[in-house]
Amino acid sequence: MKVVVCRNLGEDAVGILKAKKELDLVVWPGPDDKAADRRWLLENVEGAVGVIVMLTDKVDDELLDAAGPSLRVVSTMSVGYEHVDLKAVGRRGLKLGYTPDVLTEAVADLCIMLALMASRVNNGVSIVQAGTWRDYSWKPFGFCGPQLSTTSPSQTRTAGFLGFGRIAQATLRRLVPFGITHVLYSGNPGSPPDSERDAALQTQHNLRELRKVDLKELARESDVLFVLAPGGPSTYHVVNEEFLREMKETAVLVNASRGTLVDSEALAEALGRERPRPFGAGLDVVEGEPNVGAEHPLVKEPRCVIVPHVASATFETRTAMATRAAYNLVGALFDEPMPSSVDL
Ligand code: DGY
Repeated sequence: MKVVVCRNLGEDAVGILKAKKELDLVVWPGPDDKAADRRWLLENVEGAVGVIVMLTDKVDDELLDAAGPSLRVVSTMSVGYEHVDLKAVGRRGLKLGYTPDVLTEAVADLCIMLALMASRVNNGVSIVQAGTWRDYSWKPFGFCGPQLSTTSPSQTRTAGFLGFGRIAQATLRRLVPFGITHVLYSGNPGSPPDSERDAALQTQHNLRELRKVDLKELARESDVLFVLAPGGPSTYHVVNEEFLREMKETAVLVNASRGTLVDSEALAEALGRERPRPFGAGLDVVEGEPNVGAEHPLVKEPRCVIVPHVASATFETRTAMATRAAYNLVGALFDEPMPSSVDL
């Protein structure tokens, strides 16, 4: 039973796969910092029963045809599955595994880091790294930014979430001790708010308000806004010029979902204005990544902090993702429970 694995998954996950003696593992032999070469994948996937892919590997008709009728499962080591053509997978009756839950806490940690960096650090790090700190003597309002935490009980702070799933709620848990008082979120416009859940969260976190709003209100009212919705055509450039124009001058924007949700040109333009709006942005993802070079308008923008898609990059979380991807594959092939599968 041939299984193609598109990266080195680490010894825990490989151990799970190797424990199934029937499996013949074909692992991408190339450098680990390069995505599996497409041609290698197309050549090697023929006759495979399963394939473990990353978010860098496109799963489409071409790949599934190359695998042929033996293929039974695609397992992606990611919570997002925009790189998978769900119709193509569903049409062939294949199972699709993914890795939700195990990365929630690590991504929520990074969301807080990016919010703080975007509001407090902005270009400070690059100034120090460039060796030019000496040009910036301490001064009363040097390097100032908006404060995430409240400083008195009468103050309010509104956290906004574009997408209010597991990661957003884990981020909210971390924000509560900062004194966040109001929470607004937007989600699929077609689905009604989950009133019971919202009331429970409001009580649990002692918030003055927690409710679903439209995008305009979300942009207008948020002091810190987290973009945490899935990618794909329905959310493409949802944060665009119009959205950004509504944001507060003191707000910060964080994107830890997919780069496609934010129009990079519009954000760079908004941050680069004489009166920037929002104040800053913290991005874990950028449209077109990893082809984001020094000439990219957001890289050049001092009010934008960018990290290279590392929200889930802790040893613990990546190991959990890899083992989940392995168990998903094994479950599908050996009629054992599949811990996390996508309903197709
Ligand atoms: C995912 O899993 O989809 C993240 O973007 C990477 O951890």
